[in-house]
Amino acid sequence: MLRIGLLTSGGDCQALNATMRGIVKTLAVKLGDELEIYGFENGYRGLIYGQYRRMDPADFSGILTRGGTILGTSRTPFKKLDEPTPEGIEKVPAMIETYRELNLDCLFMLGGNGSTKTANRLREEGLNVIALPKTIDNDTWGTELTFGFKSAVEVATRCIDDIHTTASSHGRVFVIEIMGHKVGWIPLYAGVAGGADVVLIPEIPYRMENVIRSIEQRMEMGGRFAIVVVAEGAISQEDAALPKKEYKKKVAARTSPSIVYDIAHEIEERSGRETRVAIPGHTQRGGEPDAQDRIFASQCGVEAALACLRKEFGIMIAQNDGRMETVPLGKVAGKLKYVDPHCDLVREAKALGISFGDE
Ligand code: F6P
Repeated sequence: MLRIGLLTSGGDCQALNATMRGIVKTLAVKLGDELEIYGFENGYRGLIYGQYRRMDPADFSGILTRGGTILGTSRTPFKKLDEPTPEGIEKVPAMIETYRELNLDCLFMLGGNGSTKTANRLREEGLNVIALPKTIDNDTWGTELTFGFKSAVEVATRCIDDIHTTASSHGRVFVIEIMGHKVGWIPLYAGVAGGADVVLIPEIPYRMENVIRSIEQRMEMGGRFAIVVVAEGAISQEDAALPKKEYKKKVAARTSPSIVYDIAHEIEERSGRETRVAIPGHTQRGGEPDAQDRIFASQCGVEAALACLRKEFGIMIAQNDGRMETVPLGKVAGKLKYVDPHCDLVREAKALGISFGDE
């Protein structure tokens, strides 16, 4: 008998269910009735509070295309892991106890960076853990791809596409905020796919003069409108030069809801061009996984199940150079994967005339 636990942690994404289906289907095909499945509710919280469901392979049928997560999710910040819950429960010991009480052979954890750090901590405590790289942000170190990313790029691209028509009708500048937390993967990919004129990402700090100049150049060449894609973590060269503490203070003192509003305001002020903001927000994490994501999620699920069957624990499933592999959790936890400002896609985007505001 193989007893497994499943949990989904952190911000959700479109391909969580597809991934869990991949794990369970693979194990069910190999083990038949010799499989016991426990689904923890709302991420690590379910493991801490012992909130779980006994599940059957049938529960994972028909969910390949369903976005969100059938288990629910929550954020359990790693930096607060050693603080007790409001009820006074010590989190790590409680998680270990739940795992031991259920006599689990393996815990499958579908999560991003913070969640992977917690998974690594559980590994250090002696639990058998397999992590699967979930996040729309694609910022998980140790894998070139995370599930959720491709679907988010689709949604963000559709948003940029749709803004084109109204921007063109009114001859406006549109500043579109794209998710990605501290990295610029989604804005970079969606910016290229959506034909943006300017793409601002955290890895390439911008100067406002450069942004305005590229908008003006586009107008001089006969453009009626301009599309500026801005990562939620975009940063100016001036701010990037500030000591971290000072920058944090500046962000905390911001009166606008986010940097896009400041950028839009500055563009309108300095260029005199009517400027609007558009924010697809959490729609980028919503809806169905696209076909590419369904495939990658299924691959991750299969590889995780196979690793479990060969008793390879303390790992994260990854894809590198197009090949599926496992990487040690201890090696990936706590690191972020940034866009390389000199990577091919940035170079090619620049060749297409897309400005990153750095020159
Ligand atoms: O990590 C995924 C993500 O959508 C980021 O892109 C974004 O910064 C953050 O989560 C939003 O978090 P929340 O859903 O808690 O508002």
